Amino acid sequence: MRSGISISLPFLSTVVAALFSSVTGSPIKVPRDLSTTSIPSYVLDYAPLVWLYSDDEYRPSDIGQQVAHTIPEVNWKEVEGALSPLTLDNLDSLNDLGNTSVYLTSKEGINATIQPAWFNGVTPDDQGKTNGAVSSAIIVRDHGDGTVDAFYFYFYAYNRGNVVLGMMFGDHVGDWEHNMIRFVNGVPDAIWYSQHSDGEAFSYTATEKNGQRPIAYSGNGTHAVYAISGNHDHTIPGLNFNNGLIVDHTDQGVLWDPTLSAYAYSYNADTAQFQPYDASYPVSWLQFNGQWGDDKLPGQKEIFGQSKYSAGPNGPKFKKLVRKDVCPSGLCIVRTDLGP
Ligand SMILES: *[C@@H]1O[C@H](CO)[C@@H](O)[C@H](O)[C@H]1NC(C)=O
Ligand SMILES: *[C@@H]1O[C@H](CO)[C@@H](O)[C@H](O)[C@H]1NC(C)=O
Ligand SMILES: *[C@@H]1O[C@H](CO)[C@@H](O)[C@H](O)[C@H]1NC(C)=O
Repeated sequence: MRSGISISLPFLSTVVAALFSSVTGSPIKVPRDLSTTSIPSYVLDYAPLVWLYSDDEYRPSDIGQQVAHTIPEVNWKEVEGALSPLTLDNLDSLNDLGNTSVYLTSKEGINATIQPAWFNGVTPDDQGKTNGAVSSAIIVRDHGDGTVDAFYFYFYAYNRGNVVLGMMFGDHVGDWEHNMIRFVNGVPDAIWYSQHSDGEAFSYTATEKNGQRPIAYSGNGTHAVYAISGNHDHTIPGLNFNNGLIVDHTDQGVLWDPTLSAYAYSYNADTAQFQPYDASYPVSWLQFNGQWGDDKLPGQKEIFGQSKYSAGPNGPKFKKLVRKDVCPSGLCIVRTDLGP
């Protein structure tokens, strides 16, 4: 199930992560094991398992290290008066210093001739754990009527875009993707897979599983989340085909269990506040209104408004944590059969 190259990568990535944390002087804290917290057990029992693409060079990454490796900038100028060091415990202080215009800008630059190693993240070990990297955040929203939405956020330091007609589009620093499982009285009902500007919903029953845990496939480079292995054309948002102009590739490369290295929170829709399931999980970063990577690089060749390097994304609070349906918006079709 593993390609030849991925066998040596976990070790290498661990060494690289250790090197970087000692260089930046910000040791990575090992978060408390989720299963020992008060998070509803069904949220973990039914959590998705993610197949990363076999030759994806951009693996899940430590959320806190993104902050350590970047400088907050507005219009390509360093934000004045920012706290130092910025961490996941004080990141929302940037809201008063530029708010949504703040870009966590890579120190090396998105167009660095040699990409820094931290763009590559950490390959999960044989247990599926990203050692030394807290690469996931689980956010639970209780509707108060027996319905509970569990969001499983996946973080990657770098998104490699798609090649379209021989040209590369949409590379960006920072990448947030998610699944959301809607539970009704503790029983999984439906699951959302985020894909670029949109995504797909399936009934829990329809999904491929490992035991009782639904399977997700992460697109090579883009990390869009799919329910089946193979090719996924996403030229038209919400409509997927096996082939076309803009295609994501998925396969059973390396299995990732995001729950093994994650922070977890409950979300109160009335107050818009996050409550950590353990006091060791940082909260401030969830209220950061800025972007998790470099701004769109100026002076690039553009085709239909698209260019090689695009802007970094905003964080989990902007992914519609308060939803009526399992889909974030629009007509919600919950598929009962698997497809691309
Ligand atoms: C997958 O992404 C890697 C870079 O991370 C690239 O070299 C490779 O060609 C891609 N594979 C496919 C099938 O697109
Ligand atoms: C900062 O951004 C948030 C999120 O978009 C917005 O709700 C808020 O009104 C903004 N604050 C100011 C002072 O512009
Ligand atoms: C990266 O882009 C910036 C802004 O366009 C430019 O000034 C710089 O020379 C570029 N660096 C490389 C290595 O291409």
